[in-house]
Amino acid sequence: MINIQKIKQDFPILSQKIYGKELVYLDNGATTQKPIQVIEKLKSFYSEINSNIHRGVHYLSNKSTEEYENARKTVKEFINAKSTKEIIFTKGTTEAINLVAFSFGETFINEGDEILVSQTEHHSNIVPWQMMCKRKGAKLVVIPAKANGELDLEKYKLLLNSRTKLVAVAHVSNSLGIINSVKEIIDEAHKVGAKVLIDGAQAIQHLKIDVQNLNCDFYTFSGHKIYAETGIGVLFGKEETLNQLSPYQGGGDMIKTVSFEKTEYADLPFKFEAGTANYVGAVSIAEAIKYLNNIGLQEIENHEKELIDYATEKLLEIEGLKIIGTSKHKTSAISFVLEGIHHYDAGLILDKLGIAVRTGTHCAEPTMKHFGITGTIRASFAIYNTKEDIDKLVLGINKVKLMFG
Ligand code: ALA
Repeated sequence: MINIQKIKQDFPILSQKIYGKELVYLDNGATTQKPIQVIEKLKSFYSEINSNIHRGVHYLSNKSTEEYENARKTVKEFINAKSTKEIIFTKGTTEAINLVAFSFGETFINEGDEILVSQTEHHSNIVPWQMMCKRKGAKLVVIPAKANGELDLEKYKLLLNSRTKLVAVAHVSNSLGIINSVKEIIDEAHKVGAKVLIDGAQAIQHLKIDVQNLNCDFYTFSGHKIYAETGIGVLFGKEETLNQLSPYQGGGDMIKTVSFEKTEYADLPFKFEAGTANYVGAVSIAEAIKYLNNIGLQEIENHEKELIDYATEKLLEIEGLKIIGTSKHKTSAISFVLEGIHHYDAGLILDKLGIAVRTGTHCAEPTMKHFGITGTIRASFAIYNTKEDIDKLVLGINKVKLMFG
């Protein structure tokens, strides 16, 4: 059984008071807080190990390189990739998607080809594809969503055709918390020969990910949403596909030889890691994964399922509160609106009560358009949240309602 009070103590930031109130941190979809184990690891890395990777023959450089490559192994095992060659460290999910949009686009996309994204994507899984379509004369096609926020898979199947070259969807919608049926989406796309990129930024910290079982061609996530540092992320790509792609950026560490006439690129995964990588960030991801593995991924999933069920039940008791995205398949985020109260006003008052939520469009304007709204209040959960946090949120919302009469 998961011991939340003990877990909570691992996160120093959570013990502080905000405006004299105990902090209730429900903005985990934006970023998660860091456990002391990750903070200590960073401290010891900088105090004892730090040196640039892959570049020196000296002790510290070798040690740094070893930690970085071990981090790659840890990520490989965490998502069950076949090989460490399939794990590319990036700046984050956004860079990982931009990398694929550029490199896949350069290699495989021609005029008239189609890229499918869904109605409920984060902007980072829309704009890079739009840019690629503009560059290559390809077409961006949208998988529609249903009234409950789930993707309309029947309509999706009708959109797939021989021109479809890539399908890019979120595993979990950042604005609604809905778990998309990615396995079915991937299988259907493969029937027409299209590749699939899954944006796992809001899934990796909540669900057990097995890229071989999903059979996705690409999977992306960010370190800062899985209790690690900012400025680091992961792109998983199938080795065979990555081998076919041209590099995204040129620079040091991604080459075998360079002359003014010709450059020979390095093998995977280095071909996609130009410049000094965020090796400290990568080490922080490995430490965060170790932390989660110690708790147990199934335990985490169970706890967070309990939280979302409890939050849904309690929020629905509030008069004038409407949940946006009513699908039953959700994890760790609930979006809602309050009748007659602007989401920003609600967010500001909740903040004064020590409750951190995100308000606005959540970088998902097309999702908001689908629901005919300008924004929502989003409460998003992590392993350290409790039912008491949700009770405080409910009390807070009732105060907001009182203030606005
Ligand atoms: N993408 C992050 C969120 O959904 C920042 O809040």
